[in-house]
Amino acid sequence: MNPTFLGPARPGRARALVGLRRLVREATLDTGRLIQPLFITDDPAARGPVTSLPGVSRYFPAELGSVAVDLVTLGVPAVLLFGVPARRCPEGHSAADPAGPVARAVAELKAAAPELVVLTDVCLCAYREDGHCGPHGPRGFAHGPTHDLLAAMATSHAEAGADGVAPSAMADGQVAAIRQALDAVGFDDRVVLGYSAKYASAFYGPFRDAARSAPSTGDRRGHQMDPTNGREALAEIALDLAEGADLVMVKPGGPCLDVVARVRDAFPAVPLVAYQVSGELAMIEAAAARGWLDRRAALLESLVALRRAGADAVITYAAREVATWLREETP
Ligand code: PBG
Repeated sequence: MNPTFLGPARPGRARALVGLRRLVREATLDTGRLIQPLFITDDPAARGPVTSLPGVSRYFPAELGSVAVDLVTLGVPAVLLFGVPARRCPEGHSAADPAGPVARAVAELKAAAPELVVLTDVCLCAYREDGHCGPHGPRGFAHGPTHDLLAAMATSHAEAGADGVAPSAMADGQVAAIRQALDAVGFDDRVVLGYSAKYASAFYGPFRDAARSAPSTGDRRGHQMDPTNGREALAEIALDLAEGADLVMVKPGGPCLDVVARVRDAFPAVPLVAYQVSGELAMIEAAAARGWLDRRAALLESLVALRRAGADAVITYAAREVATWLREETP
């Protein structure tokens, strides 16, 4: 007899058959939980595969029709767009250009597959010459101009047809500024996915190659969260919700599984997204390329771990490929 009554006395009995294991699974991964990031460029020199992220490409907006149809056919419900513009400017004003690559990509995707949920990343780092996430001084962001630029960028994406925007600059008050700007011009039906608990992480390395968004000086520790802090994530989530976020995010996902679990416990009803960032994928790819890991099994395990920790949805560069695996799955 099991003296604790926490579970069966011989847990192994219910693991011995595949059918029994399937019956008692707690967390599952299905294609409906996947968000596919896409890099969009108007620069012929940037188009094509990203060396640091095997399997990931930068697309021209005009190429996205078939990508949209393919994802919808596979059952992937959503994409998250990142711009890699040919031209940068000192302040990053081009981020709000209605003819910019992301706005054009939104229109292409929605025209080809209206049911595909199109979310856009809202941050200035790929658009500013200095690679910083917004205008700043010696003590961090200049919040007024940062909010104005982020709100203009979000509004331009909504005008192009985006279903939602995902502010990732980690500027205090950015969700409120964007929510107000969207509401003011009638886009009160678009969602805001807050990058609410976004850490200053070493695991963003390959992304900064892909998005050409590395800061030219300094780093992002002045505004992104300190990886030493867990409780603070709960306050960041609460703030974004108070400012009007519809969904919230923990990023990076794998190194912050504890944070995902705490957010889930503290906010049982909040739609929660976890981002498997570029460096997490790069670790698996690099080990698999050496034959040290089973790539497919490691990827599936890393993603179901985010679900087990409490995430509703996961952002992963491997979304499309994972969807093909899930279609053929007999575990
Ligand atoms: C920036 C942004 C970053 C990522 C998503 N949005 C990079 C950063 O903050 O420097 C990282 C994503 C990844 O590593 O996959 N706006």
